[in-house]
Amino acid sequence: MDRTIRIGALISGTGTNLQAIIDSCESGEINGKIVFIGSDNSNAHGLNKGTLLGIPTFVVNYGSIIRNFKKEPATVAPPDDFDLNDLISKQTLFNADAEIETVKAFIITRAVAEAKLIDEMRHYPFDLLVLAGYMRNLSPYFIDRVNTDPDIPRIMNIHPALLPAFPGIDGYGDTFRYGCKIGGCTVHFVDYGEDSGPIIGQKAYEILEDDTIDSIRAKGLKLEWALYPECVKLFAEGRLNTVRRSYELKDGGKMQKTVVKIIQSPKD
Ligand code: GRF
Repeated sequence: MDRTIRIGALISGTGTNLQAIIDSCESGEINGKIVFIGSDNSNAHGLNKGTLLGIPTFVVNYGSIIRNFKKEPATVAPPDDFDLNDLISKQTLFNADAEIETVKAFIITRAVAEAKLIDEMRHYPFDLLVLAGYMRNLSPYFIDRVNTDPDIPRIMNIHPALLPAFPGIDGYGDTFRYGCKIGGCTVHFVDYGEDSGPIIGQKAYEILEDDTIDSIRAKGLKLEWALYPECVKLFAEGRLNTVRRSYELKDGGKMQKTVVKIIQSPKD
């Protein structure tokens, strides 16, 4: 890709990963520019970066939607193009024995919030959406509307652990408490599960005897700030392909997995 890619960002907090991506765009390392910063948290420090740099920002208050639904579900109307059964059948955030009412409440409230996100994002066309410390799981409602071509994923996330180990909200804590000798971070495309999408890149650090959760978080974050811009750059260069692979397992079973293939140049 020769053109400058338009990058949208969703954040919930400090936005240090967003800053690393902004810096790489400004230095010319990534041929891209940030076209909006959205958040689920009006106090997200990272929103100030947008304001300072003249990047449009917006906030969708998930909390009030979830509270209203708990108080009076009938007052929370799902979007017009909402298909509960389709979304329930696609999502893999909950497993088969989860309470159906819990799954329904999750899908409805997320779709309401995500429809608002989409309404905001509509004003700022983008090529890639980066989740940079965005602490909300996205439902298939949102993912399908961003990934209009299912073969061309365009939502990226950074996770503070070496996936598939330790998905969820506390990757560094989980890595440390488990007693791992190596930890790391992962950038992946987002799919319908929790931190389960095709892996684009990973970096690892060593965990030593005198490390603490705080010291490994510091090591990990430093790697995150290098890894995320590298992966966004690969996207901007058109070098990320996803391929469906099939494997025969020893027990005679079959496994299929969509994986990322990094190509040398877009013509490969
Ligand atoms: C990072 O560890 C990121 O991986 C996680 O949230 C943390 C904070 O990120 N999901 P940031 O400083 O807001 O970019």
